[in-house]
Amino acid sequence: MKIIEAIHEMHHAAEDLRQQGKRIAVVPTMGYLHDGHLSLIRVAKQHADVVITTIFVNPTQFGPNEDFTKYPRDLDRDKKLAASVESDILFVPSAEAMYPELYRTYVIVEQLSEVLEGKSRPSHFRGVTTVVTKLFNITRPHVAVFGQKDAQQAIVINQMVKDLNVDIEIIVVPIVREHDGLAMSSRNLYLSATERMQSTVLFRSLQLAEELIDRGERQSSGIISEMTKLITSQPSARIDYISLTEPATLQEVSTLCSGKTVLISLAVWIGTTRLIDNILKVIP
Ligand code: PAJ
Repeated sequence: MKIIEAIHEMHHAAEDLRQQGKRIAVVPTMGYLHDGHLSLIRVAKQHADVVITTIFVNPTQFGPNEDFTKYPRDLDRDKKLAASVESDILFVPSAEAMYPELYRTYVIVEQLSEVLEGKSRPSHFRGVTTVVTKLFNITRPHVAVFGQKDAQQAIVINQMVKDLNVDIEIIVVPIVREHDGLAMSSRNLYLSATERMQSTVLFRSLQLAEELIDRGERQSSGIISEMTKLITSQPSARIDYISLTEPATLQEVSTLCSGKTVLISLAVWIGTTRLIDNILKVIP
């Protein structure tokens, strides 16, 4: 696996690959890789000749009181994990190169960036769409792979690609979970042993929502109130939001209609760690 740090070197490598007629996939990550990231790389391998995994803890997507400085970083470990699933290139740019002094340009996807995660993290998606655009321009992929774990991120990126006529196919890969249902995340590392046990309540509340729908509940308010009861039974848990939305527009749905798909998503603080999870549910 080739490791590239300089932007101009990555640019040239991507250009060479294109000239050789190779199909390029990119898998953007912030590192501290886990099986969720590795499943994205495996899917990328199936869709391209060359897979570029990027590792960059992007400062512009963290709010002022968020965990940018304590976000876990371990490049040696990431190199081994990315190589184990045969990523061809690991692109690891520096913050100084990505955002030099006098950096001025941002990409904003309106409306979709302002709800759910965007309400709690106002400049988050501006940072995501900006860095993803930069990574696309640097790695020149034909296809880019993202995870359903960050459902809204995938929706925002799809909208950006469509609106800006970006000629890249976006693939979204299902959530990879721990044996007890907790969605894998680099942030799970922050949880104490007790918090780790309580953190399973996110997925259990999504399963409860699914059961309620299967038993005939069609009012979002009824589902949210049962999920709230279950989550708040855990002493370390504090709900940021629980939401049932239409997946394409992220508009809140109050009454569920048969045959439609609803995105049930939530953000919950477990102690001082903010976790997110979601499911897509087809209404019977
Ligand atoms: P990061 O949180 O490192 O995630 C990188 C990619 O892995 C994202 O597409 C995310 O949805 C996916 N992913 C994370 N956990 C997953 C899981 N348990 N199952 C499946 N996929 C999972 O998302 C980001 O980084 C950043 O916002 C980024 C897109 C790299 C821009 O900085």
